Amino acid sequence: MSLQRLLRVRAPTRQFLRSSVGPSRLRWSSGVSYPLQLASVTPQHAALYKESLVNPARFWGDLARSKLHWMEDFTQTMDCDMSGDRLKWFLGGKINVSVNLLDRHVETDPTKVALIWERDEPEDHQIITYQELLDETCRLGNLLKRDGVRKGDRVAIYMPVSPVAVAAMLACARIGAVHNVVFAGFSAESLRARIIDGGVSVVMTADEGVRGGRGIPLKSVVDDAVEGVESVRRVFVATRTGSKVNMDPVRDVPLEQAMSSESRVCPPEALDSEDSLFMLYTSGSTGRPKGLVHTQAGYLLYAALTQQYAFDYHPERGDVFACVADIGWITGHSYVVYGPLCNGGTTVLFESVPTYPNPGRYWEMVERLKVTHFYTAPTAIRMLLKFGDSWVSKYDRSSLRTLGCVGEPLNDEAWLWYNNVVGEDRCTVVDTWWQTETGGIMISPRPSPDDSTPKPGLPMTPFFGIEPALVSPETGRVLEGPNVSGHLCIQRPWPGMARTIHGDHDKFINTYYRPYPGLYFSGDGARRDAEGHYQITGRVDDVINVKGHRIGTAELESCVDQNESIAETAVVGYPHDTFGEAIYAFMVPMEGVAVDEEELVADIQASIRKKIGSFAVPQRYLIVPGLPKTRSGKIMRRILKKISADQPEELGDTSTLADPAVVQLILTKHSDKYVS
Ligand code: PRX
Repeated sequence: MSLQRLLRVRAPTRQFLRSSVGPSRLRWSSGVSYPLQLASVTPQHAALYKESLVNPARFWGDLARSKLHWMEDFTQTMDCDMSGDRLKWFLGGKINVSVNLLDRHVETDPTKVALIWERDEPEDHQIITYQELLDETCRLGNLLKRDGVRKGDRVAIYMPVSPVAVAAMLACARIGAVHNVVFAGFSAESLRARIIDGGVSVVMTADEGVRGGRGIPLKSVVDDAVEGVESVRRVFVATRTGSKVNMDPVRDVPLEQAMSSESRVCPPEALDSEDSLFMLYTSGSTGRPKGLVHTQAGYLLYAALTQQYAFDYHPERGDVFACVADIGWITGHSYVVYGPLCNGGTTVLFESVPTYPNPGRYWEMVERLKVTHFYTAPTAIRMLLKFGDSWVSKYDRSSLRTLGCVGEPLNDEAWLWYNNVVGEDRCTVVDTWWQTETGGIMISPRPSPDDSTPKPGLPMTPFFGIEPALVSPETGRVLEGPNVSGHLCIQRPWPGMARTIHGDHDKFINTYYRPYPGLYFSGDGARRDAEGHYQITGRVDDVINVKGHRIGTAELESCVDQNESIAETAVVGYPHDTFGEAIYAFMVPMEGVAVDEEELVADIQASIRKKIGSFAVPQRYLIVPGLPKTRSGKIMRRILKKISADQPEELGDTSTLADPAVVQLILTKHSDKYVS
């Protein structure tokens, strides 16, 4: 069906298309508006999805013009190939992301609530309007400029989830600086590595963070991280708790004080569509974390569209969007900040943890803030369901309409609890699959091609313009048809795709585009069922997904290996009831060294906390005489995974190993220690 025909909506169809206002209206270049009501798009979905594949340039071009405010129109919608070397969108266009998030909404209604800051302190929130956020953003933008920050400079943000952190991100966007938000749970060494790799000149932090009632000494972590790093000439320090911190008289500047004398007007920089907006580090299967780069217009369009359509989000109805992720992860970038604010919505900044002061925290917040959309990770759902239903049912959740989750597979038990208990069987549960690299949601139950009754693993289908492919790892061929499993790849470009790895484009190509030429390789496995719905089965590379956090085995192993008693380490993930996956470290001691296991484990844990962060500390440890290796010396992780998952019967053929006997020794030690 052509777009023109699609727009000539016949009478029976028209009744589905009750009018909607504001950003939920797609305006096409023909001048016709196409109001898309998600709850009832069934007859149109297939046609619209097809149109997005048949005529992507027109599809995305029309959307970009209707959805975003441009300073100069673009001349070409896309110039892409799937080799990874040419990924350009909206060429020739000039745009400023902060104008799209703030100024245009201030023009309509300056008093509209942009942010609700749900502070760590229970039952305590603060409201920030669009006007207030614009003022703070401009002050900060002016301050950064006065301090010498120029277009393209990298600014690290190591801050608690807070309005000033959002203003810091948007101030960078306003003046064309590139933000590099580092999750404020990373250690000084991790922060330092990200600062050095990113060539950061300015760091923005706070005196302390607070999570679950406990202070986190952010400023002192920054002090350690930047010591001797010559590129860093300034550290701005916001006040969160008011605790006393060391201030270097030359380098450190109290943020609020410096901002207060700045003007509330900061002219937005006209940026090219393909100028960098931010970089964000994520773990891969090899080496150090890599700084994925996202650019201005394509990322923004994709974050905004997916927030609107995958969640059925309606700002004009006063919807309150609560994505409880930290802004230090991509989920926080796309669905706390960029998507909701671009759509003119109200977004919640959740600073706390789900169990503080008790396991009713989320639902008390939902009642108090009248949250309509709630978005979290399966690990949080699994943890909360263990505390029982009463923590949920004592609060009024009638405002809720959409319950989302992301980060790891959502198991049936968690889906049912989320749907039946939290959602009282009347909300839509959307399990969304995507990655730091994809910028936004790629596969999810909404928008929906059919009216299937919600059930665990509600069918997941690709978003507009996304064409997945499942590839056989054995043959490298794309698997056609239903009921197949393979490596999940994407066949066509989409606007939100990452453009490169900062400073290492070869690695970008090698990781994502070389494994299966002509396709983007996600690193995940998936299954396609008889109806063409997708189910994500998990990582197929050496990345462990613990509580929805990506941890690279190589990075962790090199950290453990630095212990002088350890000759070699292999780290694998094993299934865990609450975390999804947990980490198991198999360690081979140095020849002739007698190790005290308890002491060694304590040392290793301390060093992982220091080098990476406490979320990467393994749950299980085993001292073993050797690791299962091929004759060419490659560690057979597959075997260690089976042992740690207590599936010794599925070890397969071990006879090709260099030393098959080592497997039995590991199995026995594992059973003695962990199998009751
Ligand atoms: O393995 C997939 C898993 O999380 C990975 C991406 O992690 P990250 O870049 O940190 O981004 C997380 C938030 C977007 C994926 O490669 N993942 C994400 N969503 C799902 C998932 N696994 C199963 N089901 C999902 N819905």
